[in-house]
Amino acid sequence: MAAGRATAIAPANIAFVKYWGVQDAALTLPYNESISMNLDRCLTTTTVQFDGRLDADEVVLKLHGQAEQPARGRPLERVIAQLDRVRALAATQIRARVHSTNNFPSDAGIASSAAAFAALTTAAVAALGLTLSEQELSVLTRRSGSGSACRSIPTGFVHWRNDHTDGGSYAVSVAPPEHWALADVVAVVDPGVKSVTSADNHRLAATSPYFAVRLQEVSGRIQQALTAIRDHDLGQLGAVCEADAVSMHVVAMTAQPPTFYWNAGTLAVIHALRQWRNEGLFGYFTIDAGPNVHVICAQADAAELEHRLQALPEVQFTIANGPGPGVRIVVDEPHA
Ligand code: DP6
Repeated sequence: MAAGRATAIAPANIAFVKYWGVQDAALTLPYNESISMNLDRCLTTTTVQFDGRLDADEVVLKLHGQAEQPARGRPLERVIAQLDRVRALAATQIRARVHSTNNFPSDAGIASSAAAFAALTTAAVAALGLTLSEQELSVLTRRSGSGSACRSIPTGFVHWRNDHTDGGSYAVSVAPPEHWALADVVAVVDPGVKSVTSADNHRLAATSPYFAVRLQEVSGRIQQALTAIRDHDLGQLGAVCEADAVSMHVVAMTAQPPTFYWNAGTLAVIHALRQWRNEGLFGYFTIDAGPNVHVICAQADAAELEHRLQALPEVQFTIANGPGPGVRIVVDEPHA
């Protein structure tokens, strides 16, 4: 087995219809399908170097605005577990040196773990010389425990299909990034670390009496989101995004024990968006496992929405993204 080195760049993604609730935590099999858009400006770059002289995996993280630091504890265990899955495919025990850089604030409510596990898995697969199809790579990335990472593999607008089997739960592209000039303007109202991780709440989701209702509704929303993307219908996509985000948060708020991710700033942004829509400026909210609000809008309106969002006292800063490509291998390595 040739021990090699490879670098991959992967995007974060924002879900229009969310993954919420894990059916099989060991395999990271979700209950429901989801739809997302890769973000063009929120990227993780990861180099994996397998080296027969190492006794243990070495993982160094360089988060945005922070000094390089070795990974420890649970994050280190999760990286090693994912490297083990890749090593098992290659039938090797060889250890690796991993260097990972984020170009966006990890405290901005943008799922950095999705970008991180997509980049790690892709770089490790390439470094071991494995040849996987995009579907196989998405399955392997999903098993990392950050399920949404499987959606950062294909390009542009993405559908995570799910037939409730390991091999049948993977993401596919439904349109390339240039299909639709859409934007995600993230309004950061609280840059603190989230109170309860998604992983904990994926396990708790089914304790909510509203979870069954959510599952009944979600397949309809998947079809509506796919049609809205196909037809460039922002009004339809926005309605789906808002309904699905509210549904996910109702489930979180009514799980045992409940989690309230929203704060006063979250509601201030929601109310402002509704007011601006009455004035003819169309931005729609979606919210992940935290208080920050992702505003989905036409790229032509992104600057005006950013300007207005930044003027709200509750908003600390904004980050604007367009649709972007999925994971890619870097040939001339920029770092490490
Ligand atoms: C609310 O378990 O994929 O973002 O917690 O970042 O590892 P991490 O993500 P994951 O859960 C994602 C939950 C979500 C909805 C979504 O992206 O579909």
